[in-house]
Amino acid sequence: MLNKNLKITAIAMVIASISTSTLAGDEIDPRSEQYAKKFPKQYKTWKKTIEQDKKIDEVKSNPNLAVLWAGYAFSRDYDTPRGHQYAITDVRGTLRVGSPDAEHKDLQPMACWSCKGPDVPRLITEQGEDGFFNNTWSSAGAEIVNTIGCQDCHEPGSSKLRVSRPFAQRAMDKIGKEWDSASKTDRKSMVCGQCHVEYYFEKGSKKAAFPWDNGVEADNVEEFFDSIDFVDWTHQISKTPMLKAQHPDYETWSSGVHGQNNVTCIDCHMPKITNDKGRKFTDHQVGNPFDRFEQVCANCHEQSKEQMVDVVQKRQAMINGLKDRVEIQLVHAHYEAGAAIKEGASEADLKPIQDDIRHAQWRWDYATASHGIAMHNPEEALRVLGTAIDLAADARVKLARLLGKMGIKQPVAIPDISTKEKAQKAIGLNMDKLEAEKANFSKTILPKWDKEAKERESKLNK
Ligand code: HEC
Ligand code: HEC
Ligand code: HEC
Ligand code: HEC
Repeated sequence: MLNKNLKITAIAMVIASISTSTLAGDEIDPRSEQYAKKFPKQYKTWKKTIEQDKKIDEVKSNPNLAVLWAGYAFSRDYDTPRGHQYAITDVRGTLRVGSPDAEHKDLQPMACWSCKGPDVPRLITEQGEDGFFNNTWSSAGAEIVNTIGCQDCHEPGSSKLRVSRPFAQRAMDKIGKEWDSASKTDRKSMVCGQCHVEYYFEKGSKKAAFPWDNGVEADNVEEFFDSIDFVDWTHQISKTPMLKAQHPDYETWSSGVHGQNNVTCIDCHMPKITNDKGRKFTDHQVGNPFDRFEQVCANCHEQSKEQMVDVVQKRQAMINGLKDRVEIQLVHAHYEAGAAIKEGASEADLKPIQDDIRHAQWRWDYATASHGIAMHNPEEALRVLGTAIDLAADARVKLARLLGKMGIKQPVAIPDISTKEKAQKAIGLNMDKLEAEKANFSKTILPKWDKEAKERESKLNK
C-alpha cells in the first residue's frame, strides 16, 4: 500500500516539475497594464472606456421580454452593453450565470467567458480548445479576470492585429475571410467580429461556434440551426424549441451600406486622432461614434451631426415600431399555444405552430439584438422584422383554428405583464431569492477569485 502511494507521489512530482519547467519563461501575461509604458497613447484611451458606465435594464423598459424568454436565463435580466472595461464585472454580475458555489450549481458552461478578455486566448493556448471548454463557467472564475484588452486584438507584445480565438477564425474561414489572405481592411472588422457576432455552444462539447455554415444572414442561420435540430431552450409557456440570437453586429454591418463600401468598424469606432504633440494614433476608446462626429463621419460626409443623428433616430423609431408589433403577436402566440397544450393539443397540431413561433422569434431577436443596427443596417432590420410579423401572424391564424376546433374560449387571457416585476412573477421567477443569492455570491465568492488571481499573476514576468 505504502509503496504504491509513494510511487504515485513520485510520479506527481515529476509531472509537476515538467510542467513548471515547460511553463517557465513562456507563460503568457494577459494583463493590458504591462503595455502602459510601451504604448501610452493606446493604453490611456483604451482605459477610458471606463467612462462609458451607463447601462439600461432592458427587461424593465420592456417587460414583454420576460415572457418571450420565459424558461431561459435571459428572462432574469438583460442590460444594454457598456464600455469594454466592464466586461468581467458585468458577466460576473448578471443573474444569467446564476450564483454558483458549492450549493448552487452552475447554470452556464465555460463558453460564457468567450468574449470577455485576453485570459480566454491564454487558456485556450495553454489547455487547447477541448480542455478549455470542457468545464463549467465558475471553474474559471479565478482565471478569467482581465477585461477585454490588448491581446484580444493584438499579438502578445506587439501592435500586430490578430483574431485571438481559434473558433472565431474557423468561422471566418467559412465565409472566405482566412486571416493570411484577408486584406488589411477586412482584418480591422474581423478583430471586432470575433466577439460581436451571433454564436452558439456546440451540443456535447459546449464549445463556442458561429452558425455560419450556410451564410451569415438571418435566413441562412435559421436554416443551419434547423438542419442540426439546435435548440437553445424550450419555451416555458408554448413548449416551443426556441433559438436565442445574440448581437449579430458583424453580420448585419457586413451587408449594410458601410460594410458593402468597405467602411470598417474601426473607421467609425476607433478613428485615427492626433495627440497634443501632433502624433497620429488610433483612439482606443471604443464607444459611440456620434461622440466624435468630427473625427469620424465628417471624414466622409458633408451633413451636420444633427442631420445624421436625426436620420438614425428616425430609422430607430421605424424599427421599434415593427419590433413592438412582433412582440405583441408573439406574446399572444405563446399564451395561446400554452392554452392549447393545457387542453391536450396533439403534437401534430402543435408542430407547425411552434415552427412559426420559433422562426418568428428568432428573426425578431436577430434584428433587435444586433446592437447599433439602426446605424449599421436599418434596411436589414426592417426586412427581417417584416418576415417575423408574417410568421407570428401565421402562427396565430393556425392557433385560432386549433383553439376553435378544441372548443377553447378566445381571446386567451394574458396575465398582467405591465411591469418587469409583474411579468417576472407571471412566469414564476422568484427574483428576491435570485438576487439574495447573487449578493451572497458577490460577497463571498468573488473576493476569493480575485485573491487567487492576484497571487497567480504576481508570479508572472518577475
Ligand atoms: C478591440 C480591439 C483592440 C484592442 C482591445 C486593442 N487594440 Fe490596439 N489596435 C486595434 C486596431 C484595430 C488598431 C488599428 C490598426 C490599423 O489601423 O491598422 C490598433 C492599433 C494599435 C497600435 C498601432 C498604432 C496606432 O495607434 O494605430 C498600437 C501600438 C496598439 N494598437 C496598442 C494597443 C494596446 C497597448 C492595447 C491595450 C491597452 C490595445 N492596442 C488594445 C485594436 C485593438
Ligand atoms: C473580446 C471580445 C470583444 C472584442 C474583440 C470587441 N468587443 Fe466590443 N464589446 C464586447 C463586450 C463583451 C461588450 C459589453 C461589455 C459590457 O457591457 O460589460 C462590448 C461592448 C461594445 C460596445 C458598447 C460600448 C458602450 O459604451 O456602450 C461597442 C460600441 C463595441 N463593443 C464595439 C466594438 C468594436 C468596434 C470592436 C472592434 C474594434 C470591439 N467592440 C471588439 C466584446 C468585445
Ligand atoms: C459608419 C460607421 C459605423 C461602422 C462602420 C460601424 N459602426 Fe457600430 N455604431 C455606429 C454608430 C454611429 C453607433 C451608435 C448608433 C446610435 O447612437 O444609435 C454604433 C453602435 C454600435 C454598437 C452599439 C453600442 C451600444 O452601446 O448599444 C456596437 C456594439 C457597434 N456599433 C459595433 C460595431 C461593430 C462590431 C462594427 C463592425 C462590424 C461596427 N459597429 C461598424 C457607427 C458605425
Ligand atoms: C470611411 C468613410 C465613411 C465614414 C467614416 C462614414 N461613412 Fe457613411 N457612408 C460612406 C459611404 C461610402 C457610403 C455610401 C455612399 C453611397 O453609396 O452613396 C455612406 C453612406 C451613408 C449614409 C447613407 C446610406 C444610408 O445608410 O442610407 C448615411 C446615413 C451615413 N453614411 C451615415 C454615416 C454616419 C452617421 C457616420 C459616422 C458615424 C458615417 N456615415 C461614417 C462612407 C463613410
